[in-house]
Amino acid sequence: MWGGRFAAGPASVMREINASIPFDKRLWKQDIAGSKAHVAMLAKQGIVAQADADAISGGLDQIAAEYEANGVPVDLDLEDIHMVTESRLAELIGPAAGRLHTARSRNDQVATDFRLWVRDAIDEVEAGLVALQEALIARAEEHADTVMPGFTHLQSAQPVTLGHHLMAYHEMIRRDRSRFADARARLNECPLGAAALAGTGFPIDRHATAAALGFAKPTDNSLDSVSDRDFALDYLMAATQVALHLSRLAEEFIIWASQPFGFVKLPDAYSTGSSIMPQKRNPDAAELVRGHAGRIMGCMNALCVTMKGLPLAYSKDMQDDKPPVFEAHDLLGLSIAAMTGMIETVAFRTERMRGLAESGFATATDLADWLVREGNVPFREAHHITGRAVAAAEGAGVQLADLPIETLKAIDGRIDERIYAVLTVDASVASRKSHGGTAPDQVRARIAQARQEKKE
Ligand code: ARG
Repeated sequence: MWGGRFAAGPASVMREINASIPFDKRLWKQDIAGSKAHVAMLAKQGIVAQADADAISGGLDQIAAEYEANGVPVDLDLEDIHMVTESRLAELIGPAAGRLHTARSRNDQVATDFRLWVRDAIDEVEAGLVALQEALIARAEEHADTVMPGFTHLQSAQPVTLGHHLMAYHEMIRRDRSRFADARARLNECPLGAAALAGTGFPIDRHATAAALGFAKPTDNSLDSVSDRDFALDYLMAATQVALHLSRLAEEFIIWASQPFGFVKLPDAYSTGSSIMPQKRNPDAAELVRGHAGRIMGCMNALCVTMKGLPLAYSKDMQDDKPPVFEAHDLLGLSIAAMTGMIETVAFRTERMRGLAESGFATATDLADWLVREGNVPFREAHHITGRAVAAAEGAGVQLADLPIETLKAIDGRIDERIYAVLTVDASVASRKSHGGTAPDQVRARIAQARQEKKE
């Protein structure tokens, strides 16, 4: 029925579905580095004549300069970055170019290139996360004493300090960095020399190529070497965690920037106006960070599903490993930079924060704790007594600290004037001195320690 049309179809569709050059051209630097290490080893082992190796290496340098200047040419017929480079090498140096692929396959070649790329990507993310932590620390130090409402269920719970709140994100990023450090250590084994899947009969020196490319050692199983993409998944899973954390911080900024909250004035540089409502200042950057988290998680999921159920060793499905990693990395870089910029420049409306902390009976727990401490009242009973005090304040339309002492004494005879000292928000936060608590002294101690950890 459609044979006439189909006859010409498969070749061009095949060409298109088969080609990875449109995206794997991003591996060009790693591909050149891998090939140079490989050919140097081949010469040293006497597998390729030194003169040929020199010609190959010189040609690769020239190709690198061309790519740097003009980009990588996209020729679908040449399939991928490996073939594009090799064919250009043949144009430049002639038949000797054909010796580069001795004792190697594109399977171990791409596995090596991609590991090198992800390793660089991890280093970039690490630098971004360190900058984000520094921004958090600087603003936390500035606001170690700034009182704001702390929330559970997004209901006013107990007063905390803004410095403490910001440092909570510092902890998340600390764990994120440790995940990336783990991923980097696990990744740092070199698959080059595994060849197509079974190793090679040539007397190669895999330790030499591993060392030349900055790997700790060669991988230990050739089948695993060409079929493993754990390093890419490790990257995406660690990226997912970062994105998830950033989306929570972004969400806070969106809530804080809303008129009912009014905790922050977003910097002009990270907001946009509305084309129709002149009063608007929209938290677009924060919303996009929140949105990008979904896409980054999608990338992680995409590669998990691609790898699921693949038999050993290499299958072409695995060519699809790169787009999700590239996409996630680009989105993550933007997200980290945007959040860092927002943290650095956002204006905190501290009077508004304090005002809300002082409303909403946020020091109710302090009243109950005082009864336990000073009146030897069991906590559960103290909780009840405090509940009645809250109801009285609510009924009178005042804060706990505004209730006359007669009212409080009528609720429970064990309450006396000393209670007012614990009902202020400053007293409340200052009292929370337990390790990791919100007391300004605790926050400053954690900041000092975090700075020390960075130096180590
Ligand atoms: N372009 C391929 C990839 O990214 C590498 C080549 C392996 N291809 C092959 N048919 N053995 O996975």
